[in-house]
Amino acid sequence: MFLVVVSLIFSGMCACAGEPIMFTSCNVPGTIASVDVYPCPSQPCIFRHGINGTVKVTFKTVFPALSLKTELYAILAGVSASLPLPNPDGCKDSGITCPIKAGSLVTYHTTVPVLKQYPSLRLVVKWVLRDENNNMQFCFQFPIEIK
Ligand SMILES: *[C@@H]1O[C@H](CO)[C@@H](O)[C@H](O)[C@H]1NC(C)=O
Repeated sequence: MFLVVVSLIFSGMCACAGEPIMFTSCNVPGTIASVDVYPCPSQPCIFRHGINGTVKVTFKTVFPALSLKTELYAILAGVSASLPLPNPDGCKDSGITCPIKAGSLVTYHTTVPVLKQYPSLRLVVKWVLRDENNNMQFCFQFPIEIK
């Protein structure tokens, strides 16, 4: 009985932590093990104005690095524009402890507010984690809709 309760609690937690999504990698293929987004019960992920979106990426580090920086881009009709992030420091409050070694499996997470001034539209977002040597530790994109 105890085990059933514990596993129910844990499966409930997993549902809250995000949904694994389909994504397109834009750097070395195979470095990203999974991308979880919350809320995203089905794709394209729908983000309503005023909510916080959470993204969790489990990936294998490609290069050793001392510092990491997140970049977020909106791609619309082939044009890419940089979006502001509340916490662009990939080593701070991200689940990653810096410096990192090459070849470790780590999980990065961040939360991004869906600002009221964003227009309602469908677009592709590109997420990049870059190190101090300008290497991409991960790069992926997925379609979203802002409502
Ligand atoms: C989103 O996150 C910010 C900063 O942590 C917080 O102040 C705000 O209440 C959150 N909004 C929602 C809808 O959870």
